[in-house]
Amino acid sequence: MSCCNCLSIFFSIIAFAAIALKIYVKLTTKWNNSYTTLVGKTAIITGANIGIGYYTALDFAKRGARVILACRNRDRAEDALRRIIKATNNKNVTYKLVDLKSLQSVRDFVADINKNEERVDILVNNAGVMLDNDDYTKDGIQTVLHVNHISPFLLTHLLIDKLKKSAPSRIVNVSSLAAKNAALSIKTVDKMNSIPKDFLNFEMYNNSKLCNILFTTELAKRLAETGVTVNVLHPGLIASNFLSNAQGFMKNVFPFIVKWFFLTSEEGAQTQIYLSVSNDVANVTGGLFDKCKQVDIYETAQDADLAVKVWEKSEEYAKLNDNEKIAYL
Ligand SMILES: *[C@@H]1O[C@H](CO)[C@@H](O)[C@H](O)[C@H]1NC(C)=O
Ligand SMILES: *[C@@H]1O[C@H](CO)[C@@H](O)[C@H](O)[C@H]1NC(C)=O
Ligand SMILES: *[C@@H]1O[C@H](CO)[C@@H](O)[C@H](O)[C@H]1NC(C)=O
Ligand SMILES: *[C@@H]1O[C@H](CO)[C@@H](O)[C@H](O)[C@H]1NC(C)=O
Ligand SMILES: *[C@@H]1O[C@H](CO)[C@@H](O)[C@H](O)[C@H]1NC(C)=O
Repeated sequence: MSCCNCLSIFFSIIAFAAIALKIYVKLTTKWNNSYTTLVGKTAIITGANIGIGYYTALDFAKRGARVILACRNRDRAEDALRRIIKATNNKNVTYKLVDLKSLQSVRDFVADINKNEERVDILVNNAGVMLDNDDYTKDGIQTVLHVNHISPFLLTHLLIDKLKKSAPSRIVNVSSLAAKNAALSIKTVDKMNSIPKDFLNFEMYNNSKLCNILFTTELAKRLAETGVTVNVLHPGLIASNFLSNAQGFMKNVFPFIVKWFFLTSEEGAQTQIYLSVSNDVANVTGGLFDKCKQVDIYETAQDADLAVKVWEKSEEYAKLNDNEKIAYL
């Protein structure tokens, strides 16, 4: 066989495999099954100016909700707001600024909500970062941990009375498959705020995403019978997430591959839309979801003692007052 022949056979096989994989990804993408209207409801989505947060906000706006885009950057928030209003003609969409790297900013944001909003029916803790240039925030919390876990923890606590008053209401937390590989354990929990040696290997990211799941299960226990449900999800491998964190070779050559195989942001938003609006899950709480289906909680996140320990640590980092803490009923 000539060399040319070998090569063409080789490339045909690669092309065939690529197309097969692409078809597999498209066929296994699950779309929300819900036509529920959200007229009369108010939803808050963090990180709503881009990616899956944006498509979640867009979906809620289409359903007639009052939508509050919780974003850090004014220009980007205004741009997203303009696009959502243009696409949906829902003028009841607004943005409020919040910096998840600051405890005070979260407190100011909630003070504004409590003063000016009658209700909060849906809270989507969507925003997150994989890496950050700063090691610690001004509050002395490791930045990735602060943005991905401590700030949503504080935000959820401060909004809990509003959510209870608006019940049935829903809290949806965005975690990640990375939680499966998290190293955080009862032995290391006291050091959860120290920068790991292997920082570039996403240990802090993995741990923060594990915290999202631990908190969801623990919070579900503490919110039993309140009419507030809380679930957590893994959105899938989304192109935009990877590309925004890529550098060098990854940024130049990788995008083509990533865009071809990974989910679009709209596809990636489906599970959080499903959890926020579908009737199927109206009474489901404390669950982990993937592709609009409940899955088993990862082994790393099954330790109830770890959940309690991390909860207590987080109360310290978030500097919660005693009357702001969520106790068991
Ligand atoms: C699911 O969400 C998308 C927006 O992401 C929306 O266009 C679609 O209509 C939704 N599906 C149903 C059945 O409502
Ligand atoms: C905006 O949404 C809120 C909550 O859903 C609702 O009470 C209010 O009437 C809406 N306002 C307008 C102008 O539609
Ligand atoms: C969502 O995740 C955050 C961060 O881990 C946590 O603090 C918060 O309690 C969670 N909310 C729910 C409802 O589980
Ligand atoms: C974090 O998770 C990623 C993806 O799941 C994995 O590749 C990586 O090895 C993990 N890092 C650590 C330190 O566990
Ligand atoms: C959820 O629970 C409420 C109150 O118990 C009940 O009225 C409703 O039918 C339930 N919904 C679903 C989808 O199971």
